[in-house]
Amino acid sequence: MQTDMLRLSYTLDSIEAAAARFWQETLGYRVFAFSGEMGAGKTTFIHKLCDHLGVTDAVSSPTFALINEYHFTDGNGVDQLIWHMDWYRLRDSEEAFNAGMEDGIEQARAGNAFCFIEWPEKAAEILQPPYLRINIETTGDGEREMIITPVL
Ligand SMILES: Nc1ncnc2c1ncn2[C@@H]1O[C@H](COP(=O)(O)OP(=O)(O)OP(=O)(O)O)[C@@H](O)[C@H]1O
Ligand SMILES: [Mg+2]
Repeated sequence: MQTDMLRLSYTLDSIEAAAARFWQETLGYRVFAFSGEMGAGKTTFIHKLCDHLGVTDAVSSPTFALINEYHFTDGNGVDQLIWHMDWYRLRDSEEAFNAGMEDGIEQARAGNAFCFIEWPEKAAEILQPPYLRINIETTGDGEREMIITPVL
């Protein structure tokens, strides 16, 4: 069993602070796998994470595109790449492979991108450690609990 690294409870009023805390605690990780039911808030939180990095591209759910690309400029003035994937519509790992998902993850693991994945369980074999597993649960009206666990 892996041990939890961090638990965060938040509402839409406190989601910015939760996103800031997330980045403080997850330094060094590049691949983030977000699980949680439909409407749990995966896309909403990823959007806030991107805002925090200074992404100026429109962040939206890649439900149909399967993968979105965003950019931001880091503290050293270097352009950084983000892949935002949604595997909900994928049937299996072969489809994920053919859609180029593995390349994006590899690039992130090599330190050349960040990679956010919604519905990672749809093509689990593609996702090799190390990565962070993030589980979001609805704990009340407008309230969410996030559990972050390293998979090493
Ligand atoms: N604390 C909260 N955090 C995130 N979303 C919240 C919160 N409270 C309410 N919401 C609402 O819940 C919805 C979450 O939708 P979102 O698209 O982010 O879910 P998702 O997990 O990405 O779903 P899907 O599996 O369909 O991709 C939004 O309408 C958002 O406004
Ligand atoms: Mg979503």
